Amino acid sequence: MGRKTKNCSFPSCRLPAVSLAVWLGALLVLSGCGGKDHSLRVGAALYTQDDTFISAMAQNLEGIVREAESETGKKITLFIADGKSNQSTQMDQVDRFLARGCDVLCVNLVDRTAAAVIADKAEAEGVPLIFFNRQPVAEDIQRWDRIYYVGADAKESGALQGALVLEAWEADRETLDRNGDGVLQYVMLEGEPGHQDSLLRTEYSIKAVTDGGVEVEKLANETANWNRAQAAARTAQWLEEFGEGIEVIFSNNDDMALGAIDALSNMPRSRWPLIVGVDATAPALEAVAAGQLYGTVHNDGIGQAQAMMALALALWNGEDPAQAVDLWEGHYVWLPYRAVTLENLEEFLAE
Ligand code: GAL
Ligand code: CA
Repeated sequence: MGRKTKNCSFPSCRLPAVSLAVWLGALLVLSGCGGKDHSLRVGAALYTQDDTFISAMAQNLEGIVREAESETGKKITLFIADGKSNQSTQMDQVDRFLARGCDVLCVNLVDRTAAAVIADKAEAEGVPLIFFNRQPVAEDIQRWDRIYYVGADAKESGALQGALVLEAWEADRETLDRNGDGVLQYVMLEGEPGHQDSLLRTEYSIKAVTDGGVEVEKLANETANWNRAQAAARTAQWLEEFGEGIEVIFSNNDDMALGAIDALSNMPRSRWPLIVGVDATAPALEAVAAGQLYGTVHNDGIGQAQAMMALALALWNGEDPAQAVDLWEGHYVWLPYRAVTLENLEEFLAE
């Protein structure tokens, strides 16, 4: 019953060449789907809830579901599963969502190479699938016309982060270029290896600085897996090795930037390098306010959650998703990044 109710609400469901009215009438009787009297069930699978940005996204989704319920007067049930960084755990969770009759799946992949298997499961059940935050390759997104990706362009976040550093260098080179050699010495705290946000932020942040005509020297780079404690440990090592030779700490996300700040906490502020992150999480905004973090790049988790819910509702109602969200190439919703410093911090604190 759950299955029928689901399928008949989507235009993609293939009806034999019998009068549409006859079929619709029969389906109404069989499944009661015309009245949409069952609740919308959304299953959201997270790669791990032990990630500041992702757990905030889960909260955003919960909040937006409540808003959507009161706006539409429809009951919406949101199931959230924590994949605990294990792809086979996440596979089981996806199977369970499908068995429970979820109408839409939202998947934050543990391992992006698992996208095809999940896509095929969803298609076999006729359940639309929204990937988010961890972007599958284009071929996997194109496997079926009901597969979407909601996220933000990693290159853009890197470029904005680099632009912040370039601006700071241009505005106050005397202070930033501690050894006065005209070259910007930096270290890079990287997110998970192979994650496009790690790769592209690392590349495009530095590109923005060098495109701005500043010569750079990389002292060290290492992964800290998006994690604050790991980043604190790496930074502590680098401080031993390079001391005040580090002029800028680039971090692929805010949690790792906060880890760097933890490692610096015993050093007088006047001797700290400049630190930049990405995400604009609540604790990172506090660190900007306290002058510890020079800047960050706002990763719009609320916008992403809103887009996911708008898509889910449109698909469930059998409406054209392109009317509900800004859809690029029929599959993608891109939310813009925005740079944050002390100057425009107020706008973000208000959110
Ligand atoms: C990034 C975010 C990181 C981490 C990662 C997980 O977009 O900046 O903090 O949450 O996603 O995939
Ligand atoms: Ca220098």
